[in-house]
Amino acid sequence: MQVSLVQGIAVLCVAFYWWDFSLASKRQGQNREARLTLKPKHGGQLMLSSGRIKLGEVFLSGINGLRGERGEKGAKGEKGSQGEKGDKGDSCSSSCKNIFTSSTSGSCDARTEGELRYDKKSSHLFLCSRKQWHQLQTVLRGEISNSPPRKSCLDILFKGEGQGDGMYWINPAGTDPERNAFRAYCDMTTSGGGWTLVAKVTHDYSWVCPDRDGGMCRGSKTNPLNANLFHDIHQRDTVDLSIKSNIDAGVHLNDTIIRMLFVSGRQSVRFTFVGSGNDWTATEDAYAAFNPSKKNRMFVDHEWGQYTLDNVDYTWNIIKHTRKDKTFRGKIICWGNKVKHSYRFYDHGLHVGSPASAHKPCLLDNNENEVMLKSHYATLQGSPLKARWDMAQFGFLGAQFVQVPNKRIAIWVR
Ligand SMILES: *[C@@H]1O[C@H](CO)[C@@H](O)[C@H](O)[C@H]1NC(C)=O
Repeated sequence: MQVSLVQGIAVLCVAFYWWDFSLASKRQGQNREARLTLKPKHGGQLMLSSGRIKLGEVFLSGINGLRGERGEKGAKGEKGSQGEKGDKGDSCSSSCKNIFTSSTSGSCDARTEGELRYDKKSSHLFLCSRKQWHQLQTVLRGEISNSPPRKSCLDILFKGEGQGDGMYWINPAGTDPERNAFRAYCDMTTSGGGWTLVAKVTHDYSWVCPDRDGGMCRGSKTNPLNANLFHDIHQRDTVDLSIKSNIDAGVHLNDTIIRMLFVSGRQSVRFTFVGSGNDWTATEDAYAAFNPSKKNRMFVDHEWGQYTLDNVDYTWNIIKHTRKDKTFRGKIICWGNKVKHSYRFYDHGLHVGSPASAHKPCLLDNNENEVMLKSHYATLQGSPLKARWDMAQFGFLGAQFVQVPNKRIAIWVR
């Protein structure tokens, strides 16, 4: 999924420009002209009709547009002689710029209005508009410019607008897309597709206690309540599959939005575990489809709940189970966030595994042979809740004595 800027540009997004302008793209030995258009109906997105451009091959005209060189006439008939060379197009010396070599140190004024420049120092693309250089957002491969935004990845699929896995625009609230729509990663292929990525963990400690520089959190000055993956401090407007080992290594979407995705869909939560490798190829992958005839409070703030397979609160659907010597049972799912008391001794948030017997409701079993979503960064006691770092640190990923270790975990809703 990681692609360099030069390889990856498919779409340039700008927010405020309504005019059309043309862009001529040159390739060695051939001239091509591609037209860029931007209309309100595209939701502020600048689209390239030919689909993909590469930096360094792009020449931009001024707002009057550029007529490229006329192409060579094709061969006549079977053995025809070569056609005469076309006339040269309009000169663009005053109106075109090679955007690759420019920098934005030059002024943006009426004369340069509409120019695109690539700033080598910052590696960003800029558009001169109304006397200001605006940085254009470049979007990597896998970014999809679906429009208008739908409620969820599942909704996009239902509307027949799926284009494979990637980043799509969604708007779970359904209203005021300019304000509410955001980019979400959609898995459109696994088990029917329609999965919106809602959270991920790609490193054990750096997101929990950043003051320890990636080390264990015991002794950290960070508030131990932050060990909850669904704590507001770990909320992001967009969650993608980039693999981080910094403060963004444990992130989630706004809980209210996750709840909207959950209730407007199939009430399914999926857990993808990656045991090895450098990508997101799952080692274990399964989803819980909640029983629609039973109430649940999954992803609702200020509430907690335990849901079990034995009570038929959900069904456990295994998509992939590679480590056959390990169990992957999904017997209990616990949710709790912004809850004032300790219902499980340890970190709040979302946990999946098998229940420990005769303990607090959401306490999960210690089992080094079971794949679970489980953490004991902090211990929680009392009401109001008092939290302190656990003496031992059992993170989501590396805690080999209490669960099967993993490299990374993704959580999805459909
Ligand atoms: C989450 O989104 C809801 C609905 O937009 C909003 O009311 C709430 O303040 C958000 N929560 C946080 C922590 O940003």
